[in-house]
Amino acid sequence: MHQAAPCGSFAQPDLRISMAQPSLPLQQLLPATSPLAFGCMGLGGSWDDAPYTEDHVAHAHAAVEAALDIGVTLFDHADIYTRGKAESVFGELMRRQPSLRDRIVLQSKCGIRFADDEGPKRFDLSREYIVAAAEASLRRLGTERLDILLLHRPDPLWEPEEIALAFRQLREQGKVLHFGVSNMNAAQMAWLGRSLDQPLVVNQFEMGLGHLEPIEAGTTFNDGQAAARPGSLAWSGTLEHCQQQGIQVQAWASLARGRFSGDTAKDPADEPARRLVQELAQRHGVSTEGVLLAWLMRHPARIQPVIGSSQPARIRACGDALKLTLTRGEWYALYEAARGRALP
Ligand SMILES: NC(=O)c1ccc[n+]([C@@H]2O[C@H](COP(=O)([O-])OP(=O)(O)OC[C@H]3O[C@@H](n4cnc5c(N)ncnc54)[C@H](OP(=O)(O)O)[C@@H]3O)[C@@H](O)[C@H]2O)c1
Repeated sequence: MHQAAPCGSFAQPDLRISMAQPSLPLQQLLPATSPLAFGCMGLGGSWDDAPYTEDHVAHAHAAVEAALDIGVTLFDHADIYTRGKAESVFGELMRRQPSLRDRIVLQSKCGIRFADDEGPKRFDLSREYIVAAAEASLRRLGTERLDILLLHRPDPLWEPEEIALAFRQLREQGKVLHFGVSNMNAAQMAWLGRSLDQPLVVNQFEMGLGHLEPIEAGTTFNDGQAAARPGSLAWSGTLEHCQQQGIQVQAWASLARGRFSGDTAKDPADEPARRLVQELAQRHGVSTEGVLLAWLMRHPARIQPVIGSSQPARIRACGDALKLTLTRGEWYALYEAARGRALP
């Protein structure tokens, strides 16, 4: 059980902090977007149909307050998080403090379906499903508009023309302002983009010291070592495509689920990178979380890390990323330590 916390008003986000970093691609469209995003997957309790409780609301309130304190304005949801309860709890916060909605950039995702009578867990980017899922998110959040809707994962059965119709309908009805994707590579974005009458504005995928594939794709594609990370080849050109098209890259698993920021590494292979993260944190007087996120933010794509912690202290520690610009040498030292061997 979480300690019940008062659910009073939220402090104003510190826009001086949000604007301290060089501009993000997304700030061209949504100027209030912060360099760090807050991921709401940890809100709302367990992944089942049990109703959320007042403790979950208090837990969410403390996490959102901590995120606002470090200047976060972009809040990332998905219809599936805690089976809809993350959005419902967040909606409850906005009902209790309606001014919150106008101070944030609200993003959600759709396209993943849990197993039901019609089939196993699957992806569904049909026109009907996208529209119905977005409308359900709006109902749970208790708002009339999403600022951004992402397609959560590529669906092998997708028809880009159908997706274009869904996007147009949601935009014309004022239900969604902008659209993006998640976990898609450059070829998939280009394929989808051809049918759309508006640009994709975000691609959110796994990236960080715990998941180097999008970077490895560029550094080892013509090297035999690439075989060590077979998944990386699928990501070839994805960061470059986003940079060329002005698409905001958002990194999930940005804290690598604690693999490098705690006092011990569960996997001995992570120990060199964990020690280096500690050393850099001490050298620069910042938190270990700050180092992990600064590593992502040093990339010229102006990556927006999505913070997945729901502990207020850890969320606040993430704010240190805004105080740190890693040198090229430090960035490569972390990269090498995390990949476990020198570059070719
Ligand atoms: N698009 C997608 O397919 C996709 C997939 C997954 C996630 N996401 C989004 O990205 C956000 C972040 O993703 P994530 O949760 O995978 O990544 P993350 O930020 O790397 O990990 C967060 C998790 O790691 C734990 N953690 C962090 N540092 C720790 C430490 N030093 N010691 C112990 N535990 C530690 C956190 O626990 P505490 O809460 O206790 O701090 C939390 O459970 C999500 O909230 C969601 O919005 C998107």
